[in-house]
Amino acid sequence: MPTTEQRVAIVTGGARGIGAATAVRLAAEGRAVAVLDLDESACADVVEKITAAGGRALAVGCDVSDTEQVEAAVARVADELGAPTVLVNNAGVLRDNLLFKMSDSDWDTVMNVHLRGAFLMSRACQKHMVDAGFGRIVNLSSSSALGNRGQANYAAAKAGLQGFTKTLAKELGKFGITANAVAPGFIVTDMTAATAARVGMGFEDFQKAAASQIPVQRVGRPEDIANAIAFFTGEEAGFVSGQVLYVAGGPLD
Ligand SMILES: NC(=O)c1ccc[n+]([C@@H]2O[C@H](COP(=O)([O-])OP(=O)(O)OC[C@H]3O[C@@H](n4cnc5c(N)ncnc54)[C@H](O)[C@@H]3O)[C@@H](O)[C@H]2O)c1
Repeated sequence: MPTTEQRVAIVTGGARGIGAATAVRLAAEGRAVAVLDLDESACADVVEKITAAGGRALAVGCDVSDTEQVEAAVARVADELGAPTVLVNNAGVLRDNLLFKMSDSDWDTVMNVHLRGAFLMSRACQKHMVDAGFGRIVNLSSSSALGNRGQANYAAAKAGLQGFTKTLAKELGKFGITANAVAPGFIVTDMTAATAARVGMGFEDFQKAAASQIPVQRVGRPEDIANAIAFFTGEEAGFVSGQVLYVAGGPLD
């Protein structure tokens, strides 16, 4: 159903990578976009890109794992851009290690950013969505949710986000709110560049090796994920909820 109202979206981890591409894409779809990341100044380039193209955007500094910062950030977005009714929980970190070397803090950091962050942001935004009778929540899962060596923390968090997503879909559906998860495969960002560095490979070689294992024979770009997120956040996607879409250039085992 078309709407004349400009919806307000929040994209966490929006300063770079998949989040930046998503912020730009949602703005191109006509959304006003809060580009939220740890450091407000790091969001400036994305905000500038959106406003230069005629859109509305706001840079917001916030650690998604901190309750007070999240509450303040969402209140500020509501104040300065309007009630947020589209939320993309994209902020993420890696603390990869084999289980026997994984520290308590490697575990806690990953759980806090991915799971607690998505929980806090969703809880803070849902009241605006309920009031509006409309909401779109997209959580970033990963192909690693199926299990990945060296990522016990990350795989658990990304699988956890799938259960979280399905639960939100069940609880919030009656308010016109959908919740879905996008689970990317290999996407070229700082995150995969850091993984290449950790395993001692050049990023180009790392990408080539990854591409050779992917049915479409290329690695993903942030825009590939932004495209899937744009679908789930669309006005017309109101009957699609509680789904996990793997966007990985092919099926996964
Ligand atoms: N790149 C991939 O191949 C890939 C694959 C599957 C899933 N993902 C997921 O997609 C999302 C985006 O990944 P990316 O590759 O663009 O990563 P990235 O590292 O390039 O960007 C992540 C962003 O999140 C921000 N961030 C980290 N902790 C934060 C916090 N506590 N509060 C607010 N912002 C925080 C970072 O500052 C950064 O700007 C992540 O959730 C990631 O797990 C990525």
